[in-house]
Amino acid sequence: MFNKRIKIKELLQQDPDSYREAEQVTVMGWVRTFRNNQFIALNDGSTNTNLQVVATLGMFDESLLKRITTSASLKITGTVVPSVGKGQRLEVKAETIEILGDSDAEAYPLQPKKHSLEFLREKAHLRFRTNTFGSVFRVRHALAFAVHKFFNEKGFVYLHTPIITASDAEGAGEMFRVTTLPFESTPKNEDGSVNFKEDFFGKSTNLTVSGQLEGELGATAFGEIYTFGPTFRAENSNTARHLAEFWMIEPEMAFYDLEDNANLAEEFIRYIIRYVLENNREDLDFLAQRLADEEKQLSQDKRSEMGLIEKLEFVLNNDFQRLSYTEAIDILKDSNHNKKKKFQYPITGWGMDLQSEHERYLVEKHFKKPVILMNYPASIKAFYMRINEDGKTVAAMDILAPGIGEIVGGSQREERLDVLLEKMEKMGISEEELWWYLDTRRFGTVPHAGFGLGFERMIQFVTGMSNIRDVIAFPRTPKSAEF
Ligand code: 4AD
Ligand code: MG
Repeated sequence: MFNKRIKIKELLQQDPDSYREAEQVTVMGWVRTFRNNQFIALNDGSTNTNLQVVATLGMFDESLLKRITTSASLKITGTVVPSVGKGQRLEVKAETIEILGDSDAEAYPLQPKKHSLEFLREKAHLRFRTNTFGSVFRVRHALAFAVHKFFNEKGFVYLHTPIITASDAEGAGEMFRVTTLPFESTPKNEDGSVNFKEDFFGKSTNLTVSGQLEGELGATAFGEIYTFGPTFRAENSNTARHLAEFWMIEPEMAFYDLEDNANLAEEFIRYIIRYVLENNREDLDFLAQRLADEEKQLSQDKRSEMGLIEKLEFVLNNDFQRLSYTEAIDILKDSNHNKKKKFQYPITGWGMDLQSEHERYLVEKHFKKPVILMNYPASIKAFYMRINEDGKTVAAMDILAPGIGEIVGGSQREERLDVLLEKMEKMGISEEELWWYLDTRRFGTVPHAGFGLGFERMIQFVTGMSNIRDVIAFPRTPKSAEF
């Protein structure tokens, strides 16, 4: 029977004195190291702290001891004793050791020495077995759980929006096509274009870039919904913050304006950060130390001003800076950075789209805290955003985080049918294809708003991992879809 094992995390939390001499425990896991033919550091993925298992000299066959190699899997039964070694309260004195799976230490790709994150990316099938990735993915799990906990407590309905869709919610045209049409002899219309009537769905379909449009259908019935699922973008961006497949959380709320939306986003971000600070302290402390070590190799001016934990606590205790796009442009234009021509993309004036170097300047140099930028020019934002009184800006909000840049994009939605139709026509968005979306504006339209939080960017912020490829199990990026 396998189920009788105790997880190492749970075992290590117990008081060794509460174990009577005779009480046996069963642990299972993978060998991290084996010293002096006696001391096994066993890890089962529940914590980075290894359990020390003592194989008393002379008690076990030499042939068995030889098979206790790095990453071999073991089932051990033994007694719990207080530890004399430092750093642990208890250890297990082995009575039986069973090798569940051998591991050829020579061939095993991960050595006890420190490997670079780049190297480990190539070994993503095994990197969960390292301390860094153990911590990152336990924190990822906890954040996902906290997301559901937050919305559940608020009475939001979790809506599963489709992965395959015929619409481009963001209108940016960065979509992966879904088709079963053959590459050879593709069915064509008379004008030479592809005849999608012959395709699986009878129309042209893609992987979704966002669940928002369907989310709005839910919000205008349930009041408040959220989605949490994978989204796909075929943008050819090889940066440390872009993935072709990423997870997004998209709450959508009826009876909310832009300010309500921003308030919810702040509360949400704080809630999930507080959750991991309270529940994953050991992993966060490890990641904070990892980051501090990594930053030691940087020049002074490139290091973060705050440690990881300090930064997270700062976010809990300080309001985000809110300002308009127009104010942001003024700040950027007047900045010494701009005057000295240090931006790669110079500030040309009102109406320009902000690059990540501009966002990061505002957050990291100017305000030194998360920023909520609001009311962008209509021309640089998606069709569904509500036009403000001035006629040229929309009720949009982006949340920018130190070290990351944009982590949230959201807006109040255009609920006025005539205004929306006019805008769609101007932007070349097909009214016929979005008939179902427009129906919400026809039958009991309401002011409503929502936003999308990029889950991996949030994990980057919380874990201090600088590359987004290190916070998702198996990253999909241009020219890379291994594992
Ligand atoms: O700003 P975006 O494009 O907004 C939307 O998709 C809206 N429909 C959301 C809404 O209002 N319901 O994307 C939202 C967030 C970004 O702020 C960013 O954090 C993340 O998704 N994101 C990406 N994360 C990783 N890789 C990419 N390629 C990303 N593109 C966007
Ligand atoms: Mg955006």
